Amino acid sequence: MLRIKKLIVHYGPFMALNKISLEVNVGEVVTLVGPNKAGKTTLLLTLSGIVETTEGRVLFQDADITNLDPYKIVARGLGHVPQGRHIFPTISVFDNLMVGAYIRRKAKGEIEEDLTRIYELFPVLKKRGKQRAGTLSGGEQQMLAIGRALMGRPNLLMLDEPSSGLAPRYIDEIFAAFQELNRRGLTIFIVEQEIQRSLAISHRGYVLRNGRLIKKGPAPALVESREVQELCLG
Ligand SMILES: Nc1ncnc2c1ncn2[C@@H]1O[C@H](COP(=O)(O)OP(=O)(O)OP(=O)(O)O)[C@@H](O)[C@H]1O
Ligand SMILES: [Mg+2]
Repeated sequence: MLRIKKLIVHYGPFMALNKISLEVNVGEVVTLVGPNKAGKTTLLLTLSGIVETTEGRVLFQDADITNLDPYKIVARGLGHVPQGRHIFPTISVFDNLMVGAYIRRKAKGEIEEDLTRIYELFPVLKKRGKQRAGTLSGGEQQMLAIGRALMGRPNLLMLDEPSSGLAPRYIDEIFAAFQELNRRGLTIFIVEQEIQRSLAISHRGYVLRNGRLIKKGPAPALVESREVQELCLG
């Protein structure tokens, strides 16, 4: 579904990503783990067309999407839940969800259908629909950011450190939701520092350090790896 070939990304003279090649196949949950400043966010921003590629290619569903405009990439079905969530705090929870549906301009029936599914997954978003989004707790805001991305009906959902700063019970709920979404057919790509929970729900994983991929393999093998544990626990 997603194929990244020898991707190089610079910020000015600084090379943030150095020849990254990775794949996410249809139906998989794949996690890329890495410590602070490894380049995780840079990778997702590049895939979404927000940061420009120096060299290399990004293929999504067999089409070359390298350096395409961000809105065109979303419209092709690549959803992105950004680091820090970036919900719109002064508008309602419901309106935040509708922002996610905007790109589609699809029939009302489809939007209703998607809302129903998202409310099943995160009932709090229905309960608090009329509230300003900024009044939600951190975990609820993360659910909203995920719901907003799902309203775009992605084929592949990318998430940037979804567990960051959340209480354990929210982390459990969010990772359970990823499993449920994957069971329903969604392909998922997570970047995380928290390796235990994310690799526990993943099929495969990659390890990024200083802009380079240093390891890859089946998720259970990476969880067991001492090197990976030490890297991510600092
Ligand atoms: N806009 C920018 N301009 C210059 N350098 C940047 C910019 N954004 C990120 N960097 C640098 O690129 C490197 C990778 O940063 P990035 O945010 O992608 O890492 P990360 O793995 O997401 O880190 P974190 O775990 O802290 O979110 C870091 O050294 C960072 O300082
Ligand atoms: Mg980051």
